[in-house]
Amino acid sequence: MNKGAGRLAVYPGSFDPLTNGHVDIILRGARLFDQIVVAILENVEKESFFSVKERLEHAKEVFREEENVEVDTFGGLLVDYAHRRRASVIVRGLRAISDFEYEMQMALMNRRLSSDIETVFMMPAEPYTYVSSRLVKEIFSLGGSVSGLVPPSVYERLQQSSARQGG
Ligand code: PNS
Repeated sequence: MNKGAGRLAVYPGSFDPLTNGHVDIILRGARLFDQIVVAILENVEKESFFSVKERLEHAKEVFREEENVEVDTFGGLLVDYAHRRRASVIVRGLRAISDFEYEMQMALMNRRLSSDIETVFMMPAEPYTYVSSRLVKEIFSLGGSVSGLVPPSVYERLQQSSARQGG
């Protein structure tokens, strides 16, 4: 797959918001693969903090200087998207044992759907092993500091969003 252009990996997720844990995994992936595509799920049903368009902008801004990191959105099945992009690898981050069950289920289901795509798990740097988008949103909405947990530009957008909402 994608032999002419080198090995392409897809890093899928909701990224609502993008955290420093995601950034850590993406940069590790960028060192390991010729190109890594950060693929933001367009999930119309899921209630989100930032719109898909905003999340796309945030990630583009964070990785604007990384030549082999691309940011995109996708709908439908992940394996279909990976095929369309001619990617041979799906990258996922594993933080703790608690991630394992869900991740294993997804990896094996994706393998069942498409045996030519391999899921590769990577561990983030230790300070990010307990960072999640869900906790960032919760802490932020309750007035706690999320500084250092998200990239500075995302932090700024969070502040702006709370100013917009009068928070
Ligand atoms: O960061 P998240 O929210 O845990 O990411 C989940 C994601 C986007 C990787 C997963 O929901 C997904 O791949 N959705 C696309 C639909 C699909 O392919 N579902 C079958 C997965 S086995």
